[in-house]
Amino acid sequence: MIKALSAQEILDSRGRPTIEVRCELMDDFTGIAQVPSGASTGGAEAVELRDADPARYRGLGCRKAAANVTGPIMEALRHRALSSQQELDTALIEADGTGNKSRLGGNAILGVSLAFARAMASREHKPLYQYFAEMIGNTPSHLPRLTINLFSGGKHAGGQVPVQDVLVIPAMASTIEQGLAQVAAVYEAAADHILARYQMRRLTADEGGLAPPFAGARAMFDDAVKAITSGGFEPGREISLAVDVAASHFAVAGGYQLGNATLNADRMLDTIDGWVSDYPLISVEDGLSEEDWPNWPRLRQRLDGRALTLGDDLLCTNPSRIRRAIDTGACDALLLKVNQIGTLTEAALALHLARDAGWKVTVSARSGETEDTWLADLAVGWSADQIKVGSITQSERLAKYNRLLTIERETGLPVVGWPN
Ligand code: PGA
Ligand code: ZN
Repeated sequence: MIKALSAQEILDSRGRPTIEVRCELMDDFTGIAQVPSGASTGGAEAVELRDADPARYRGLGCRKAAANVTGPIMEALRHRALSSQQELDTALIEADGTGNKSRLGGNAILGVSLAFARAMASREHKPLYQYFAEMIGNTPSHLPRLTINLFSGGKHAGGQVPVQDVLVIPAMASTIEQGLAQVAAVYEAAADHILARYQMRRLTADEGGLAPPFAGARAMFDDAVKAITSGGFEPGREISLAVDVAASHFAVAGGYQLGNATLNADRMLDTIDGWVSDYPLISVEDGLSEEDWPNWPRLRQRLDGRALTLGDDLLCTNPSRIRRAIDTGACDALLLKVNQIGTLTEAALALHLARDAGWKVTVSARSGETEDTWLADLAVGWSADQIKVGSITQSERLAKYNRLLTIERETGLPVVGWPN
């Protein structure tokens, strides 16, 4: 049973408001959690409630969301037994009553869902990853493989190049510690290279990726391969690449505006196919836009056995969209972002659907992050194949990597290899 909820507006890694929620249980155990926020958001995401007061934070204030936690949400939960995460989340969904959490706010609801999880974990004297694991009846057997942003464009870097993120994957590292050290060597090599080539200092995008004025996607991949080699690794064997195309954000009527070229879906598929042939890419996220349902199965077929077809904006961690993608063969991997759907229980349903379909799962942070580390525990507790947190240069990201290091020390679990 919940004794009290409190919430306050805090600032995320972009200096924009988000919320922090504190949940106190009847027996005085407490949990605090901070809620992240995206920029390259999918249209079907749970609604982030913002104040819309142009005089504060350009309308992005979160005082209303915080007030909903202490007001209507606390009222709805008062005197309820709520002995499990599922009971709490079901009560939250009912209290909101909308399909997209627009009444109370996905941010307010998720803050309560997460803070409750922390309070319960502390009451049960277990680490948070163990609580998450037990919540879904899982026994963690591995740590997630790292997928770490090297270069950024799109909405995370002022749109200097349309493709949003090129990531490096230490595919053969058997520990988080080893993977981080390898990626750090590649990142340093990339920074040196960019200084030489673009005469650019280390200007970074929202998630810490380097963001020089690349001529296009191929320039990003070329430079990434060079950085892997200069860092002392063999591209495609020791370190592979992943890309988040985030194509919804450059979709135009009838196709895709990729730099100066307007591509119809066929040419977009050819383009992605060419990237996967020419570069050591093992995962392609949002290669097509979130509404391009007819062409996603074609993309998956073209990439089958070569690279994962990973859905982010397409799926929005939303069980009904995931079911549609399974039925149509649109993807073979889920990007799981809890705040896209708004409660842990619904995110767990998304996970189960993806697992039952034989998909891979990447647990992901948002571009607007906080110093909270629950994401690392979630990725371990839910046995994600991969974790995507951003680069290794900013503390809101490093907090999660550092938490993974702690979990690694505590559990001694190995990192899942690739292919797995
Ligand atoms: P977002 O981007 O957090 O800005 O939505 C991350 C992603 O697209 O994967
Ligand atoms: Zn994405």
